[in-house]
Parts: sequence; C-alpha cells; structure tokens
Amino acid sequence: MGKMLSQYLLSLFIAFSSFAAAQTCTSLTIPVNIEAQTAHITIPEPVDQSALTAFFVNLSTHSIDYPNTIINGTRQLKAQYKIAGKLCTPKNVKPNGTLEFATHGVAFTHAWWEVDGDNSEFNYAAKAVASGHSIFYYDRLGTGFSSQPDGIQEVQSTVQVEIAHALVQYLRQGKTGHKFGKVIGVGHSFGSVITVGVTVKYPKDFDDVVLTGFAIGDPVAPFVGAASFGAAIASEAIPTLNTPSSYVVPGTISSYQANFLQYPNYDPAVIAAQFKIRGTATLGEFTTLTTPVAPATDFTGRVLVVTGITDSFFCGGNCAEKINGTTPPNLVAGLYPATSNFSSYVPLNTGHGINVHFSAPTTYDIIEKWIGA
Ligand SMILES: *[C@@H]1O[C@H](CO)[C@@H](O)[C@H](O)[C@H]1NC(C)=O
Ligand SMILES: *[C@@H]1O[C@H](CO)[C@@H](O)[C@H](O)[C@H]1NC(C)=O
Ligand SMILES: *[C@@H]1O[C@H](CO)[C@@H](O)[C@H](O)[C@H]1NC(C)=O
Ligand SMILES: *[C@@H]1O[C@H](CO)[C@@H](O)[C@H](O)[C@H]1NC(C)=O
Ligand SMILES: *[C@@H]1O[C@H](CO)[C@@H](O)[C@H](O)[C@H]1NC(C)=O
Repeated sequence: MGKMLSQYLLSLFIAFSSFAAAQTCTSLTIPVNIEAQTAHITIPEPVDQSALTAFFVNLSTHSIDYPNTIINGTRQLKAQYKIAGKLCTPKNVKPNGTLEFATHGVAFTHAWWEVDGDNSEFNYAAKAVASGHSIFYYDRLGTGFSSQPDGIQEVQSTVQVEIAHALVQYLRQGKTGHKFGKVIGVGHSFGSVITVGVTVKYPKDFDDVVLTGFAIGDPVAPFVGAASFGAAIASEAIPTLNTPSSYVVPGTISSYQANFLQYPNYDPAVIAAQFKIRGTATLGEFTTLTTPVAPATDFTGRVLVVTGITDSFFCGGNCAEKINGTTPPNLVAGLYPATSNFSSYVPLNTGHGINVHFSAPTTYDIIEKWIGA
C-alpha cells in the first residue's frame, strides 16, 4: 500500500516536472516607438461612475453611431511605450521554427494565454509549446505591466496595431536571441481586431493568422456587447490599479458571464480566479473598437477563424445565424480576398471566452494542428 502510494506520487512528480521543464519562458519588457493616426475624441475623463455608465448607455444605442458623434477628426501621435510580454519556447527550440504572436482582448491581460497556470489544460501557451511552437504573448497597451497612458486620446485601436507591428519586427529581427522561420498572428476578440489591422496595414508581418472570438456582419452584436459589459471605473473596482477613470473593467461577475461565458460549460473556480485578475480597456478603445477591421487585400497567408457558437460580442449570441446566406465567422472570408486558405471552426457549448470553457483543450488541438510544423 505504502509502496504503491509512493510510486504513484513519484510518477506524478515526474509527470509534473517533465511538463514544467518542457517549456522555457522569459519575461521581457520591450520599448516600442510608434507613430499612429488617432481619433480626436471630444469627451473628458468621466467624472464618476454615473458619467461612465452614461457613456456606455450611449454606446449601446444601436440607432446612433455614437463614436462618430464624439470624434472630431484625427491627430498624429508619436510616442514611446514599454510593453511587457513573455516569450515561451520549447526546451529544444528548433532554429527557424514557428512563433505564435498572441494578442489578448478586452477584460484580460497576457494571462489570457495561460489560464489556470502551468499544468492546466486551459493554458494555451503550454499547449502551443507542447506542439513544438514558440509563443510570444503580451500585455496590450494600458493593461498589466505595460505603459498606461491617456485612456481617451492614446490607448486606441490604431495605436495597438502599430505596437503589434513594432513587436513583430523586434521578434523577427531576432532581438530576443531566437530567429523564427514563421510568425503566426493569434488574437482573441479585440486582439483579433488588432491582428486583422496588422494584416491590412502590414501584410508581410504574419505568415498565417488565427482569429479567435471574432466574426463580422451581425448588426446588433457590438451593442449587445457594450450593453452587457457592466463597465466599472477600473481603479474603483480594483483598488490596486492606479489608472484614470477612462480605464474600465466588467463590474460584476454576472456581466462577465453575460459577455464571455456559456452557462454552465466552464469551471466556476477558474472563472472566479480570472475575474479577480481581469484586465482593463479604455474609452479610447471602445470608441475606436472596429476601426482596424477592413479588407486585407494584400494578405496572402492562411486564415483560421475560431469563434464559440454563442459568442455575444461578434455574433450577438448566435454564430449559426445566416447573414446574406453566410454565418458571421464565415463572412470574415470577405476581408481576405487574397488568402491561400480560409477556414473556420465553431466550438459548441462555448461562448465568447473560448479559453475558459471545457471545450478549450479540443479547440487548442485543432488550432495547433492547423498551424502545423
Ligand atoms: C450621450 O448622448 C447624449 C445625446 O446624444 C448627449 O447629450 C450626452 O452628452 C452623451 N453622454 C455622454 C456621457 O457622452
Ligand atoms: C473640432 O476641431 C476643429 C478644428 O480642429 C475645431 O475648430 C473645433 O472646435 C473642434 N470641435 C469640437 C467639438 O471639439
Ligand atoms: C525557414 O523557415 C521558412 C518558413 O518555414 C522556410 O521558408 C525557410 O526555407 C527556412 N529557412 C531555413 C534556412 O531553413
Ligand atoms: C449583405 O448584402 C447586402 C447587399 O448586397 C450588402 O449591402 C451588405 O453589406 C451585406 N452584408 C454583409 C454583412 O455582408
Ligand atoms: C484549407 O485548409 C483546411 C484546414 O487545414 C483544409 O481542410 C482544406 O482542405 C483547405 N482548403 C483548400 C482549398 O486548400
């Protein structure tokens, strides 16, 4: 009995340590210099939570193009930021191998790609590395340990696209000590919007792209997302944050559920932990949310869209609906007229937050196999 137990514990230990040793992760802080055309947004920092709620009430009014009413032309921004990220490589990293470049969405940080820790099957980065890929994932400007500039005039979508481009150049030039043969852009939600933006403006940055939690064409979806977001001033909801009132988070776990989850197909303990470490988004980002989405006419790589069947933000709760005879995830093909291959995968029993549902391990398998060697 005692011997069997100790053998069992020993084998557990070996399994644990070999898994943990299989990847090497390095935390990086990368300085980026960018120039971007930003929207001049004519609203002040919200004076309090009520003013913030009023902004979201306006944003969720589907018959008004609210962003257009508060944008007064564009400005040229030149700035330097510090971006915090993590590079994880297989233990025996191949020279000239594949790098995944992963951008998270609203209400998360880089931690979106390592949900539930090192040995969890929800950990996307660990799965990528176990599949022989390296992965770089980072805190979007404004979140985590990255710079937190003006949340209205600076933290905007076009700025995020320029930052992603600068980071890809940094990685492609081998400045981390590794050279990669292929760089695959992987996004979730607003991170997919940013990834699309890179394919539009810098079509050679990514060899292929995986757009998760993303679709186009549903006319009410963004309003459903904004209305159910339950935005709270981030520094009031999470007192350890020292951000201006234009930085927001989902206020309650029920608004988080409404936006990201399909009940009950997730582990409530994992969700409680994710909610605690949820990341910010800014009013500048909400005002310019879809600006980068346009036809990527010069992008010739492959495109994979992976979006949960009841995605709220992009399908208004139903990704099986037909718009002009096509589902919202498949309408994305229209943005990629020059792609060498478009495909989509819609996991069932899954909402917008695909990485936190029980379906995640199967979804990850499909993504990693699609990316290939
Ligand atoms: C919301 O829209 C109304 C009417 O368009 C406007 O008067 C008000 O100032 C807006 N509120 C905010 C917070 O932008
Ligand atoms: C919009 O910009 C123009 C010129 O840049 C300026 O004259 C005008 O006052 C601005 N309007 C608002 C509402 O800020
Ligand atoms: C590096 O990888 C790329 C893409 O997979 C390939 O086209 C290229 O030939 C490889 N170069 C070397 C030196 O192996
Ligand atoms: C649906 O088709 C109409 C008519 O061709 C077009 O104007 C509209 O943009 C299409 N909608 C989408 C989401 O593709
Ligand atoms: C596109 O890629 C998918 C998934 O890798 C594959 O099953 C399909 O055959 C490809 N289509 C074309 C036309 O090559």
